Amino acid sequence: FPIHKPEYESWSFAGPFGTYDKAQLQRGFKVYREVCSACHSMNYVPFRALEGLGYSEGQVKTIAAEYEVQDGPNADGDMFTRKAIPSDYFPSPYANPEAAAASNNGAAPPDLSLIAKARAVERGFPNFVFDIFTQYAEMGPDYIHALLTGYDQTPPQGMEIAEGTHYNPYFIAGKSLAMPKPLSDGQVTYDDGSPGTVDQYSRDVSAFLMWAAEPHMDDRKRMGFRVILFLLVMTGLVWATKRRIWADVP
Ligand code: HEM
Repeated sequence: FPIHKPEYESWSFAGPFGTYDKAQLQRGFKVYREVCSACHSMNYVPFRALEGLGYSEGQVKTIAAEYEVQDGPNADGDMFTRKAIPSDYFPSPYANPEAAAASNNGAAPPDLSLIAKARAVERGFPNFVFDIFTQYAEMGPDYIHALLTGYDQTPPQGMEIAEGTHYNPYFIAGKSLAMPKPLSDGQVTYDDGSPGTVDQYSRDVSAFLMWAAEPHMDDRKRMGFRVILFLLVMTGLVWATKRRIWADVP
């Protein structure tokens, strides 16, 4: 069975000078919070990291306080739950991996902290030759967007779809997966006037998951640019120095 190749989407963070669009990241976070977090954990992301989306310290505290986390043991040796604080990590929706698998037809929903870096679909010759250099950072978000918008299709005639799974030709590891179509039009309310469509939600949550996996990408690119600039100037100086030192040698 053929796996469909994700389309090339355009991302604000593409290319050497691309940066995250914070309004988009905040929308994507809303989608994660209201939809994906019902099943998917994000255990490697602390609440304090949300300042990277443009939230203030106070706003991060408020967001964290909406979650409950396990803590303990206390003086009596008991575990207890309390409101989360910015240094806590996003809690899991299930008590343990067995419970997660049991609630999802045996396939536990993967943690989404690093999923944007953990998935990429090779797009065939000659694209894969160039993708490695130009699209590498975007292949994860391209895939997530394709997967989330890839439901609602009729399987090819004669294809058997295992019970409890859902056909999606973009799924990387089979013809159908245990995740039901998670998004539908109008499901999440945006307050910045962006369209409430499956395509927009998918785009925004993919960008958000890219940020979750690579929160320092903007800084890294900025630093990389300065380093290259420095090396260029340095090369010029070294070359000029060499010319001067050897000028009198016949
Ligand atoms: C798998 C994203 C909502 C249940 C996945 C995968 C991604 C993903 C990227 C990995 C696919 C792969 O292995 O290549 C999302 C996003 C969501 C969302 C961005 C929100 C928009 C949900 C919801 C549920 C769910 C609400 C539960 C009802 C699962 C399960 C799997 C999965 C069970 C494992 C599928 C399998 O391996 O068969 N999801 N998901 N997801 N998701 Fe979600």
